[in-house]
Amino acid sequence: MCGIIGYIGKRNAKDFLIEGLRRLEYRGYDSAGMAVMKDGRIFLTKAVGKVAELESKIRGDARQAMLGIAHTRWATHGKPSETNAHPHADCFGNLSLVHNGIVENYQELRDMLVGKGHRFVSETDSEVIAHLVEEELKSCEFEDAFTRALSALQGTYGVAMMGVSDPEKLFVARKGSPLVIGVGTDEYLVASDVSAMVGHVSKVIYLEDGEMAIIDLQGYRVKTLDHELLEKEEQILEWSQEQAQKGGHPHFMIKEILEQPKSFEDALRGRLLVEEGLAKLGGLMPVEERLRKIDRIVIASCGTSYHAGLAGEYMLEEYAGIPVEVEYASEFRYRKSLIDERTAVIALSQSGETADTLAAVREAKRKGALTLGVVNVVGSTIARETDAGIYNHAGPEVSVASTKAFTSQLAILALLTLYFGRMRGMSLVTGKRIAEGLRMLPSLIEKVAEQSEPIKKMAKKYQDTPHFLYLGRKYNMPIALEGALKIKEIAYVPAQGYPTGEMKHGPIALIDEQSLCLFIAPKDSVYEKSISGLEEIKARGGRVIVITTEGNEAIGGKADEVILIPKTLELLTPILSIIPLQLFAYHMSVAKGYDVDRPRNLAKSVTVE
Ligand code: G6P
Repeated sequence: MCGIIGYIGKRNAKDFLIEGLRRLEYRGYDSAGMAVMKDGRIFLTKAVGKVAELESKIRGDARQAMLGIAHTRWATHGKPSETNAHPHADCFGNLSLVHNGIVENYQELRDMLVGKGHRFVSETDSEVIAHLVEEELKSCEFEDAFTRALSALQGTYGVAMMGVSDPEKLFVARKGSPLVIGVGTDEYLVASDVSAMVGHVSKVIYLEDGEMAIIDLQGYRVKTLDHELLEKEEQILEWSQEQAQKGGHPHFMIKEILEQPKSFEDALRGRLLVEEGLAKLGGLMPVEERLRKIDRIVIASCGTSYHAGLAGEYMLEEYAGIPVEVEYASEFRYRKSLIDERTAVIALSQSGETADTLAAVREAKRKGALTLGVVNVVGSTIARETDAGIYNHAGPEVSVASTKAFTSQLAILALLTLYFGRMRGMSLVTGKRIAEGLRMLPSLIEKVAEQSEPIKKMAKKYQDTPHFLYLGRKYNMPIALEGALKIKEIAYVPAQGYPTGEMKHGPIALIDEQSLCLFIAPKDSVYEKSISGLEEIKARGGRVIVITTEGNEAIGGKADEVILIPKTLELLTPILSIIPLQLFAYHMSVAKGYDVDRPRNLAKSVTVE
C-alpha cells in the first residue's frame, strides 16, 4: 500500500525523503510526492510513476530544506495522477499532508467543506483532512486544529502534516495505519514502515491507534487526541541498512530466496532444543497455562501466509493431535466461525499489518479466543494486538512476492508442532527426530538453491507456456498452491494449484501439448499414489517437470525435466520443495522482462479491506 516518510533535523530533508521513498516503493508505486518547508513556505513536487521521476523534478529551494514529508501512493480513491498524488494541500497551499488509510466519511466531509467555500483539486479522500485542518485553523492554533480534524474522521489513517502557521514542527498521528517515529541525534524521521529509516536512527517509537506526536528540533511529545500526554518507550531498531538493501543481487526476490538458509536458521535460533526434542518459545510463556487447555486451533491468514497455514494444519494435526482449521482471514471476519475461549487463533502475517488478518484477530478476541501472532515485522499492529506470539526474525522482506517469510513461517509452524506435540504426549524419540530434521534443513535448503542455474534454463525453455498446473499431495498440496500463486503474481501466467488427487475431477481437462505441469512428488508415504497422476498427464501429451527426492533419478523416464531435493522428514519436505518453485517463478519473470519485485496491481502489505 502507500508509504509515508517525514524528516525534521539539521540536514537536507530531501535526501532522507527520497531514500525513504525508494525503500517504501514496494508498498505502492503509482505516484509519489514530496513537500518541504523552507523559510516559512512550502515547496511541493509530485510525479506519476517511479520515485526517480519525482527526484528529477525537484528544483530550487525544495532541494535545501530541513523539514519535509513525502509519500508513495497506491490508488484507492481516484486514479493515479499528479493531482491525486500526495502530499495534499489546503486551498492556499499553507499546509501539507500525507495520508495512508481510508476516510470512510470523506464524501460527507467534502460536501460540508465545499459548502463552506473550500476548493478541492483531487478526487482523493485524503484531501478532506487538509481542508478540515484549514477550517479549524480559523479558530485555533495548528496543534488543536490537527487534533480536531482527526476527531472528525471515520475510517483509518496514518498521517504526517506540516503548516506555515507553525513552520518548525512535524505533526503525525495514527489510527489503523502504522506510523513509526525514528529518533536520531538532533533529528527525527517518521515513516509508515521502519525499513524507510534503518541506518539513520537507532531508536524507534511505535505509535498506537489514537495517538499523535508533535516533533521539533528540541524533541517530541506523544499525546492522545484528547491531549493527554503519554510516556512512550523508545525501542532499539535492530535491522541494519545492509539488510534492507539488495546486497549485490539484481532483485530483492532472488536475494530473499537465497537468504533462506539463514532466515530459516534465524527462525529456529535459541528455540530448538534438539537433545530434549523440544521447542522453547519465549513469546508463548505468558499464555502457556491457557495453551495447555485449548482444544482447537484456527489459523487465519492471506495469500502466501495462508498456504503456510495449510502446511501447518497437516503438521499440527498429525504430530500434535490438535484439530486445526485454516481460514482465509477475509472470510473469517464475515462468516460465523465457531470459536470460544478454548480456541487459539493464530494470525500468520509477514507484515503484521494485513487488514483482513488484523480484523480476524479483533473478531477472535471479541469471541474470547486466545490470539497468537506469527509475524515478521517487529512491533507491527498484529504483533501488538495479539495476546502472545512468535516473531519470524526473517529480516525485512522487500519483494512483493513472499519467499523467505513463507519458509520461516513453516519453521515456526514446525516449532509449534513440537511445542504442542510434546505438551500432549509426543514421545521424546519423535520430538528428537523432528528437532534433528529441522536442525539439518538450512544446509539442505542451500543445496536446493544451488540449482538456480538449471532452473533458470528450464524457465527460459518453457517461457511461452500458456498455462501451468501445479500438483502436490499431502504435505506438498499447499506447495502446489503456493507455486501456482508465485507464477501468477510475478510472471502473469494463468496457473492452477491443486491436490494431485483432485486433478481427475476437473483440471485434467486443461492438459494438452501446450500445458506444463509442475509435479511435486518426493519419495514419501504418498509417492506411489502420486505417480499414477503423472502417468495420466503423460498419457494426454502434457509436459511435466517433476520435483522428487535425490536417489529417484529413475523418474526421468516419465518426466520432461527432473529437479531433485534432498531427503528429509515427510512433514518438512514442503520447506525444500517450495525452493525450486520460487526460483522457477523468479527466472520466468526475469525471462519475460517483468518488474520482478513490483508486480503489477499487487502490494506487499494490503492495509485496506
Ligand atoms: C499481499 C501480498 C502477499 C502476501 C499477502 C499476506 O497480498 O502481495 O505476498 O502473502 O498480502 O500478507 P501478510 O503480510 O499478512 O503475510
